[in-house]
Amino acid sequence: MAAIEVSALEREFKGGVRAVDGIDLEVQAGEVYGFLGPNGAGKTTTVRMLVTLLRPTAGSARVAGFDVATEPAQVRRRIGVALQEAALDPLMTGRELIQLQATLHGIAPRSVADRGDELIGRVGLSRAAERRVGTYSGGMRRRLDLAMALIHRPEVLFLDEPTTGLDPTSRLTLWEEVRRLRDEGTTVFLTTQYLEEADQLADRLGIIAAGKLVAGGTPAALKAEVGRPHLDLVLADGADLAAAREVVASFGDRRPASDGCHLSIALEHGAAEIAPVLRALDDAGFAVAELELKQPTLDDVFLEKTGEHLEGGDEPEPEPAGGPAVLG
Ligand SMILES: Nc1ncnc2c1ncn2[C@@H]1O[C@H](COP(=O)(O)OP(=O)(O)O)[C@@H](O)[C@H]1O
Ligand SMILES: [Mg+2]
Repeated sequence: MAAIEVSALEREFKGGVRAVDGIDLEVQAGEVYGFLGPNGAGKTTTVRMLVTLLRPTAGSARVAGFDVATEPAQVRRRIGVALQEAALDPLMTGRELIQLQATLHGIAPRSVADRGDELIGRVGLSRAAERRVGTYSGGMRRRLDLAMALIHRPEVLFLDEPTTGLDPTSRLTLWEEVRRLRDEGTTVFLTTQYLEEADQLADRLGIIAAGKLVAGGTPAALKAEVGRPHLDLVLADGADLAAAREVVASFGDRRPASDGCHLSIALEHGAAEIAPVLRALDDAGFAVAELELKQPTLDDVFLEKTGEHLEGGDEPEPEPAGGPAVLG
């Protein structure tokens, strides 16, 4: 049985905005599914429907075997949710919040403290557990929110942009935790606007743009679909580029791009073709100053499918160090 099955799912808001415009997807149990798209693509709206916080205006979805519209209580019992804007009471400590969450989820009173400690340790907040959440950094709040989402050992975990705005270290900590959850068999549905995050974490991913899924598959398959690796060469100053192009034109796509003293060759047979290209250039008397083998990236995939680059992707905001954080 698929952990998540989505069929022709739609959500139209008042005023006619169709934020989610007919999405079909399936996530297998135990998979990490990445839902990659820019701001405003419809990621959060999709997640809110899958976690029963928002009703679909058309189509259907089943999560952990239950229909989100007609069996929402069954769905909720089996899922954990960490939304983009976590509302954490700034005056409570991390430990108080997690114990409250445990109590709300009906964990037996004698187990509440142990379960709380286990999760606090797991997300690396043991030393901050007695501090008020208002003093936590963004990364610490995301980790606490994740711990709270895990309190009842959900089968399916939804993470809506768990690392947006985090510094690289906090991001890596969250990635490790997602991998650990996957290793333990939890299904994870994770939205992101970061190409690298989707590439690193997702077993399979869907690319969403303007409410529609424009591509889906494993990161490797998606990249292989859009292109071959390119060999980028920089020739020594003063090289006769036209002549060099002739030499490399017998490789790859025969239409090497050139610019200044720079040549880019699409390799038909991948890395195995590097040595023959270099040998041919050397035989013709060209000195190569630099070379780089560039694999197609998910950005190439995004560009091919949408005609645009996925922006805002790769530079997270630095996180303010220390000091009371303002809750949004
Ligand atoms: N409650 C709402 N009412 C009207 N429009 C909304 C509402 N929520 C989201 N939208 C619109 O739906 C689109 C998708 O938003 P969202 O799902 O939040 O995208 P993402 O999470 O990918 O950034 C956007 O154009 C957004 O402005
Ligand atoms: Mg969002």
